[in-house]
Amino acid sequence: MGTIVKPNVGLTPSEFQDIVYEAAAGGVDFVKDDELLVDPDYCPIEERAAAASEALDRGEDETGRRALYACNITDRADRIVDTAQDAIDNGAPCLMVNVITAGFSALRALAEANLDVPIHVHRNFHAAFTRDSKHGVKMRVIAKLVRMAGGDQLHTGTAAGKMEGQRGEVRMINDFLRGDWHGLKTTFPVASGGIHPGLVKRNIEVLGNDIVIQAGGGIHGHPDGTRSGAKAMRQAIESSMKGRSIEDYAETHEELKKAIEYWGTA
Ligand code: 3PG
Ligand code: 3PG
Ligand code: MG
Repeated sequence: MGTIVKPNVGLTPSEFQDIVYEAAAGGVDFVKDDELLVDPDYCPIEERAAAASEALDRGEDETGRRALYACNITDRADRIVDTAQDAIDNGAPCLMVNVITAGFSALRALAEANLDVPIHVHRNFHAAFTRDSKHGVKMRVIAKLVRMAGGDQLHTGTAAGKMEGQRGEVRMINDFLRGDWHGLKTTFPVASGGIHPGLVKRNIEVLGNDIVIQAGGGIHGHPDGTRSGAKAMRQAIESSMKGRSIEDYAETHEELKKAIEYWGTA
């Protein structure tokens, strides 16, 4: 279960840190940057990575869980490994790359640089050539290239959410990424884009539970804020894993109750 810091641009490192902390204290496993945020003057990578790392420490003290933070280090191919190293030296335990922008060979260079942290891959820009029925390639081509290049996690779309793909296709791509393929290590599929607690069940039903499921607005937009949003998302996952209906589970879980009153369910 992950989140994306929102709003994704304009926050100072200390504002960013507060949100990471609230999410970690609410029980997320994973926090990441958005694809629009890389290294602006008002929130540079080094300060942001250090701020996130401190927030994760505080979150861990409270919950006993250690969350990961993926720092978006998308950069020119000739600089990307150095930028990644900088983020890691400042405490980033995971990297994020916009693969279409940086390029497949930049991703491969990162994966082969022995940096020893996972690489979360965002596919933004893919739709310009995967969604036109007359031209381009399918998303599964991108998925194969990302796996070949060494990406550890990849956005593959949702079964319910704002970036809804064709459900069968998303499931097929996810199965491909998790399955055997010429001995290449697997890639963890990520469902992200417009998900909120009320859509968790539908996504798990279609995509299985071996996925990273993320919500940005669907956590921070909770009527009681980020921490309650993270709790509600966790409760939604628990209700699915226990085979309980979300409405029934919400009766005894206040954060989830508020979330489904606010957003509804699938
Ligand atoms: C977002 O960042 O808004 C979405 O997660 C992007 O979704 P896509 O991977 O379907 O383009
Ligand atoms: C992403 O980068 O994965 C998306 O921006 C998801 O954000 P959302 O949950 O707010 O749509
Ligand atoms: Mg995004």
